[in-house]
Amino acid sequence: MCGSGTFLIESAYKALGVAPGIRRSFASEGWGVMDSLVWKTERQAAIEAIDKSGSFKALGFDIDDACVELSQTNAKKAGVFSKVTVKQQDISRFKPIDGAVTICNPPYGERLLDIKSAEKIYKIMGEKLRPDKDHSCYIISPHEEFESFFGKKADKRRKLYNGMIKCQLYMYFK
Ligand SMILES: C[S@@+](CC[C@H](N)C(=O)[O-])C[C@H]1O[C@@H](n2cnc3c(N)ncnc32)[C@H](O)[C@@H]1O
Repeated sequence: MCGSGTFLIESAYKALGVAPGIRRSFASEGWGVMDSLVWKTERQAAIEAIDKSGSFKALGFDIDDACVELSQTNAKKAGVFSKVTVKQQDISRFKPIDGAVTICNPPYGERLLDIKSAEKIYKIMGEKLRPDKDHSCYIISPHEEFESFFGKKADKRRKLYNGMIKCQLYMYFK
């Protein structure tokens, strides 16, 4: 359910030590109160801190071929294509990988699919992801009863907003 590949790219950035916003400019760069050399020095230090040598790999799946292509294009643009693999696959064919962390943002039944179809997907996710300490899962959903469709109570949850939509991050790691 990788969509445009945001989680794949952001996780690669985190693993490689890529500073957030390194590829953009900031309005404060134009402020006179700070020596412009500070920006130059810090940007250079952030570039030097990037370590691409690690074994990190992100594996993404989506049912939609267009999303697979989009994720690949975005990973290329973000400079992490070598760390990211994306395949077309329905969640019903997902097989947990030992030691891997699964992070996803399944359809909410608001912008994508209707609520009944989203609930059906949450049930399939519970059957396929089978979270435990070797297969941890982090899932974002606005559905108040996500856990009952998924079939397991989260070890921890945290409220967050995806745009204007109030969601929970359901965390399974035990
Ligand atoms: C809310 S979007 C994910 C957005 C993503 N986090 C991003 O950064 O773009 C949900 C994704 O789930 C995919 N999807 C829907 N049903 C699916 C299924 N049965 N198996 C796999 N992927 C599915 C959709 O194609 C869509 O890209």
